[in-house]
Amino acid sequence: MHPVLESLITGFSFGENLKEDVPAFLNFHGCPNTAAHTRSVVEQAQLLAARFELDTASGETAAWLHDISAVIPNEERLDVSQQLGLEILLQEAQLPLLLHQKISAVIAEEIFGIRAAGILDAIRCHTTLKPNPTPLEMLVFAADKLAWDQKGIPPYLPEMESALDHSLEAAVWIYQRYLWNSGKAKVIHPWMQGSYLELKAKYEFM
Ligand SMILES: [Fe+2]
Ligand SMILES: [Fe+2]
Repeated sequence: MHPVLESLITGFSFGENLKEDVPAFLNFHGCPNTAAHTRSVVEQAQLLAARFELDTASGETAAWLHDISAVIPNEERLDVSQQLGLEILLQEAQLPLLLHQKISAVIAEEIFGIRAAGILDAIRCHTTLKPNPTPLEMLVFAADKLAWDQKGIPPYLPEMESALDHSLEAAVWIYQRYLWNSGKAKVIHPWMQGSYLELKAKYEFM
């Protein structure tokens, strides 16, 4: 295991399952808010998996681990990504927060032993999504946005929830369109842009 990852588990004892280990690991590293958010995302992932007849276990696993890289402070994420040999896009160097999705996938694989490529991929793109996503990637992305972790009701939530009556993809489009139009994206990540343009071509005139 890479020394950077090794240092994260020093002094931590793992139990039997993610339901216990993930909150314990996040709390061990002083991230109780992420632990609470993660629980909400898991709940949303369970609901979406049931609603759209997707694999609940995969959705739960990806949701439990999607923000596990919260244990690495934002100011260290660029350096850690370099040490781990991750591909770092220009936009990620500009806004290292975006690297948390890729680092979470590495921690999920190396520390939590997740081997299923589809689960790791869903963790790796949970913030930005990417073009041509799998149903599991859309599920984790949507669950993360539906589990709003700030005060009040997010502006996109009512429309996103009604879009779920049509499809998971339609709900994903509502969020991507909101983010794009709101100007809240601090950088334009190419995966997010690709996803936005792909969905726009499909949904804009519907
Ligand atoms: Fe995240
Ligand atoms: Fe999240």
